[in-house]
Amino acid sequence: MSFELPSGLRAGLVAESGRASEDRMSSSVERLIEAYRSGKPATAPILVTGTDVAAYAAYRMPATFAAVRTALEQVVRAYPTFEPRTQLDVGGGTGAAAWAATDAFPDLAEVTVLDQVKEALAVGRRLLPQAAWQQWQAETAGELPAADLVTISYVLGELGEKARAELLGRALRAASGLLLVIEPGTPAGYARILDARQAMLDHGLTIVAPCPHQGACPLTATPGDWCHFSARVNRSALHRRLKNAQLGHEDEKFSFVAGAAAPVLEPPDGRVLRHPQFRKGMVTMQLCNADGTVRPQVVSKKAGDLYRVARDVEWGDAWFSAPSQLP
Ligand SMILES: C[S@@+](CC[C@H](N)C(=O)[O-])C[C@H]1O[C@@H](n2cnc3c(N)ncnc32)[C@H](O)[C@@H]1O
Repeated sequence: MSFELPSGLRAGLVAESGRASEDRMSSSVERLIEAYRSGKPATAPILVTGTDVAAYAAYRMPATFAAVRTALEQVVRAYPTFEPRTQLDVGGGTGAAAWAATDAFPDLAEVTVLDQVKEALAVGRRLLPQAAWQQWQAETAGELPAADLVTISYVLGELGEKARAELLGRALRAASGLLLVIEPGTPAGYARILDARQAMLDHGLTIVAPCPHQGACPLTATPGDWCHFSARVNRSALHRRLKNAQLGHEDEKFSFVAGAAAPVLEPPDGRVLRHPQFRKGMVTMQLCNADGTVRPQVVSKKAGDLYRVARDVEWGDAWFSAPSQLP
């Protein structure tokens, strides 16, 4: 599944990149990649200068937009009656998750983005002026304002354990409809998603996606495996230059969990983990199942309609074993 950047965001990013020197942005990108790769909680803001923020917007926003938009698409499919009018994007930076939610939910009318970095808020405000942009510090802030949709995208990894648990508690109390947490698709990001998932279950939320069940994650019992997904990102020429990359695209790996305050009807029978394998007359999918197990499922040509549907299934899609239920 891939989502193009909304044209307004693409144009805005081009305009933003013209405000900083490309050489300086390239140096910032190198430093930021290093900082994010370290995976350690940040002891000071990682985005320091206006150039860092311009670099972040140019090379990371397309990827975080793609990840959040892809996760929200699974929410939309699993929970079609969820029509948020308000969003709170916590640690929203330059607003990738605000753009993704605006794209996914046409009725979204009020968007508030909170972040500690003033320059990020300034860039975000220029890109999406209709949102409210507020300076906010996780460690010292109080309760969060309520919103139908609360998003926390690529933030938890920058917080220490205590601040992370407190933020999750506040986000759970603020999310009147749905809480979405997204992290990098690494074993460490997945571990933080497992913590967020458990906090959601303890708070009485229903897991909407990606899990087709409310039980323990079966992948924790499989050494070396972790639940993550992939979103294709088309790179602009500037993106390629800043990352010193040749390919015209990259695949952003992410882990996520979405929990709803209300019970969600008709959960799928499974979730496709990893790219399905296609062999002549046969599709093999690794499925996380409604009974809380993970196992491969083979659908052969003999299955008729189900096979035709299986041929189009992608990594991350929900799976229904009756073809009439499939999207
Ligand atoms: C990797 S960026 C993600 C930005 C955005 N959510 C996205 O998906 O593109 C992490 C963001 O979290 C913010 N952040 C990290 N620690 C924070 C803290 N202690 N208080 C407030 N914001 C924080 C950073 O300023 C930064 O904008």
